Amino acid sequence: MYKYVFILTAIILIACRKDKGINPDLAYKDYSLLDSCKNEAAFNYYKNDPNIIYPGNNGAHGSFKLKFNKTAFAALTDNGKLPLNTKFPERSMVVKEVMSGTSLNFYAFMYKYKGAWIWGEAKPNGEVIYSVEKDPALCINCHQQTGNRDLVDTFIFY
Ligand code: HEC
Repeated sequence: MYKYVFILTAIILIACRKDKGINPDLAYKDYSLLDSCKNEAAFNYYKNDPNIIYPGNNGAHGSFKLKFNKTAFAALTDNGKLPLNTKFPERSMVVKEVMSGTSLNFYAFMYKYKGAWIWGEAKPNGEVIYSVEKDPALCINCHQQTGNRDLVDTFIFY
């Protein structure tokens, strides 16, 4: 009897571990998305200018730089903004580099996956400030301001 319980447990453990290797959802967790934030080559800055620091008086984070991954950037066809009443495509990533003076403090990001934004905040050193596992209502409620550009609020103010 115990032998079977042991074997069954072993099978379950192995099956789970295998699953971890192939589960695509794991690519959209805090650390993998933080890695994406750091991959400078994958992004273009808003208005194609990496030097602009926006004051961020209307947001929750203070001064910031803003960058879009290639997929998201390609969708900015309305004078550098997403056209009204349209959506960013799957795998778009928008990253707010929240600044402390002229240096990066942390990333606030949104990633389009299965038709919805994943929201999170993390520091470059790996410290997670707002996990993607948390209820995103806090972020979404405030981002649901008028603008109708798929919850990206910078387009309203800058
Ligand atoms: C109090 C309202 C408010 C809350 C809460 C808030 N945001 Fe924002 N966020 C804004 C505004 C407004 C902007 C536009 C830029 C600015 O003025 O800061 C913004 C900008 C951003 C951007 C850049 C893209 C864009 O929409 O312009 C990201 C990414 C972002 N926020 C992530 C988050 C995440 C993640 C959370 C939740 C942990 C969050 N925000 C919570 C108001 C908010």
